[in-house]
Amino acid sequence: MIPGGSVDLVVTDPPFAIEFKAQRSNYNRTGSRVLEGYSEIPKEEYPKFTQQWMQEAFRVLKDSGSMYIFSGWNNLKDILIASDDIGFITVNHLIWKYQFGVVTRRKFVTSHYHCLYVCKNDKQRKFFPFARHSKDEKRPEGGSMHYKDKEDVWVINREYWTGDQKTPTKLPRELIEKILRYSSEEGDIILDPFLGSGQVAIVSKMLDRQYIGFEIVKEYYDFANERLKTNQYRLASPNISSAPLPFN
Ligand SMILES: C[S@@+](CC[C@H](N)C(=O)[O-])C[C@H]1O[C@@H](n2cnc3c(N)ncnc32)[C@H](O)[C@@H]1O
Repeated sequence: MIPGGSVDLVVTDPPFAIEFKAQRSNYNRTGSRVLEGYSEIPKEEYPKFTQQWMQEAFRVLKDSGSMYIFSGWNNLKDILIASDDIGFITVNHLIWKYQFGVVTRRKFVTSHYHCLYVCKNDKQRKFFPFARHSKDEKRPEGGSMHYKDKEDVWVINREYWTGDQKTPTKLPRELIEKILRYSSEEGDIILDPFLGSGQVAIVSKMLDRQYIGFEIVKEYYDFANERLKTNQYRLASPNISSAPLPFN
């Protein structure tokens, strides 16, 4: 339903391909404040699913548009293959390094995510190199702030919304803000086909961008919609009294 060539930027964290047994134990945490109903894609359907949604993303993006796709290492292969097949141009392969991975005994702890930055036309692609730091800004410990911010490893903490309503996985606000500032302008149309808690739409609204999003789980859709309608970044759990943070 989205017209071709109409979207400026896609930022998304697609569902993972996992075994459904693992899904139940990981995500159906009854009794906690994590909203239930997480929807995943069966492993054998993942390559086709990935091809289909990425093809649609290619169709709706403007020639000046670009896309940032988050992925764990286990799903990355399908995303890289689809990206090449469809004709996206890879701009960067970013690493998001976060704190507190799941502790493991017999292997190393995964504490990063991949983020593939791709576009349709590298000459027309929007990029605002000084959107966050001027050329001359210095870091307190010395060296250029601008250079540091533009390195391809991003160290950004996950957010813990203790006591508030939440979905099982969400991208931190700072991560989305960084992408939006470098790759879009006020008024641009930002699309997230897999909204989850609605982070991409919410940060887009905070930065005066327009947004479009999809979410298959009604509970998550309602949660994202409520956050957008009430301009509240966090929503208190109905049975505890913690003050939600205002948008700005
Ligand atoms: C990894 S989560 C996204 C998290 C989101 N970035 C956030 O910050 O909250 C992926 C989301 O895609 C949703 N999803 C799965 N299949 C979908 C589909 N076919 N259409 C729309 N959403 C879907 C899942 O329910 C899940 O909420």
